[in-house]
Amino acid sequence: MKEKIGIIGGTGIQNSLLIGEDAQGVTVNTPYGSVHLLKGALKKKEIYFLNRHGYDNAHTILPHCVNYQANIYAFSSLGVERIIGTAAVGSLRADFQPGSLGVLGQFIDFTKGRKSSFYQGALLEQGKFVNMTYPYCPEMNQCFLGAGKKLGIPLVGDLVYVCTEGPRFETAAEIKAFGILGGDVVGMTSATEAILCRELGICYASLAMSMNMAAGTTGEGEKEIVCFDMARLEEKIIALLTQVIMDLSAVRQCGCRQWSQGV
Ligand code: HPA
Repeated sequence: MKEKIGIIGGTGIQNSLLIGEDAQGVTVNTPYGSVHLLKGALKKKEIYFLNRHGYDNAHTILPHCVNYQANIYAFSSLGVERIIGTAAVGSLRADFQPGSLGVLGQFIDFTKGRKSSFYQGALLEQGKFVNMTYPYCPEMNQCFLGAGKKLGIPLVGDLVYVCTEGPRFETAAEIKAFGILGGDVVGMTSATEAILCRELGICYASLAMSMNMAAGTTGEGEKEIVCFDMARLEEKIIALLTQVIMDLSAVRQCGCRQWSQGV
């Protein structure tokens, strides 16, 4: 059976360039709603591409309105075992300037009012909880860092992502607090996807793309949130994702599946 890999695009990764022009539309009906994806192939692997914000370039589905449960369930029902999410982020780190790329290692979840679990009522077997110690697949992260080295694309590893509810950006005080808590970058989607993937035993990694310095971090007052044009990263991102897809082992070697069974 062909390996199946999911890609979730978002801000900056609006299209399916990665999987070529003969990608076909696929609709998957789930208990949470129907999901539209594009199916293509790359290096003999089956690739399913989803844009979490919709396909019309208008960013019509805002981060707090994304149907995360339906999206992740759809990938699972297609037999996808690994998902790469892309995440536009605000940076709290001077060494992660707009235009930089990295991979997430941890998250701190400040979302509220979202459906962030498939479990309603009963949780796994009695008294068991999903193990989220390492929310992003360590094997996929290694693969990203290796691919970055091969291609000469610098990647910052092990970033701590603070996930906010959005759709607004943060106050300067919120960002200051997130920094004290250990956050490196801030965004609105990745934690929810990572949690739902783990619950279904899907490996998930997140490519962080620094879009702007986070609110209040540059000392430039009102003028300070300047967004990098993510289209400028497109070529690099496509090269990187293609290399990662090529390099991923056929059989998963990580603990993600086992961690989903609970502790
Ligand atoms: N805050 C939250 N989400 C974001 C940001 C930000 O500064 N930049 C890109 N996504």
